[in-house]
Amino acid sequence: MSLPVVTATRYVLPLREGGSLPGVVEGNDLGTYVIKFHGAGQGPKALVAEVIVGELFRRLGLRVPELKLIQLDPAIGKSEPDFEIQELLIRSAGLNLAVDFLPGSFGYDGSAGNPGDEAMSRILWLDAFVANVDRSWRNTNMLVWHKNLWLIDHGAALYFHHSWMSAEKFASLPYDATDHVFSVAVPGVAKVDRELTAAITPSLLEEVIGLVPDEWIADGDRERYLGHLLARLSQRSAWVPGGAR
Ligand SMILES: Nc1ncnc2c1ncn2[C@@H]1O[C@H](COP(=O)(O)OP(=O)(O)OP(=O)(O)O)[C@@H](O)[C@H]1O
Ligand SMILES: [Mg+2]
Repeated sequence: MSLPVVTATRYVLPLREGGSLPGVVEGNDLGTYVIKFHGAGQGPKALVAEVIVGELFRRLGLRVPELKLIQLDPAIGKSEPDFEIQELLIRSAGLNLAVDFLPGSFGYDGSAGNPGDEAMSRILWLDAFVANVDRSWRNTNMLVWHKNLWLIDHGAALYFHHSWMSAEKFASLPYDATDHVFSVAVPGVAKVDRELTAAITPSLLEEVIGLVPDEWIADGDRERYLGHLLARLSQRSAWVPGGAR
């Protein structure tokens, strides 16, 4: 199995609110996408985390905009006046990440209510599992679209890969839920612990790790991601917010 591949045909505009300067592009399939660049600050590892985490969450029933791979020819941005963006496009020639653009969506800020105790507990448990520190009220990285909650921006998760922290260390790394948008759901997390643990099988992890294109990942690193995630799953008492079952 692999992610669909499209080609960028038009650079529409930069998304100034994103730290990594993502942009909106059109694809040769007439789709509109948020493009996240392999040449951005955190490099391709941020895109590796986006694919592994986004596709894992999707398979566990959460809403994540569709992910594709997108071929970029920097020439499509030649009329973009911003020098920084020109440079980013040039550095990002080749394969990048395309996130289905959700038109008319807005950032989740809690003003229209929350998605319910169980959904909040599941999101919190999963963010703790992948060590995602990017879901605070400052920046919820969740969009509301057609009244549903969509999860975006998982590039800061799995941060063990930046220095290849050992699997043992990552496995027992505590998760600080105090900053998390759904910290109120800590008491309910134990109720979803067993079900999520059982659902995350080695073959499911292999499947999502297998979706990362060779261009972004070093030889042998797929095994390391699998080892680290399986180790963390076996050390839940160390990191499940409120305690594992
Ligand atoms: N699929 C999407 N549909 C519509 N808007 C989106 C989508 N993805 C991202 N955005 C908008 O672009 C912003 C930046 O996207 P994202 O958070 O993925 O980028 P980032 O550079 O990783 O940001 P951050 O500053 O959080 O690190 C989002 O906050 C949201 O407003
Ligand atoms: Mg963001």
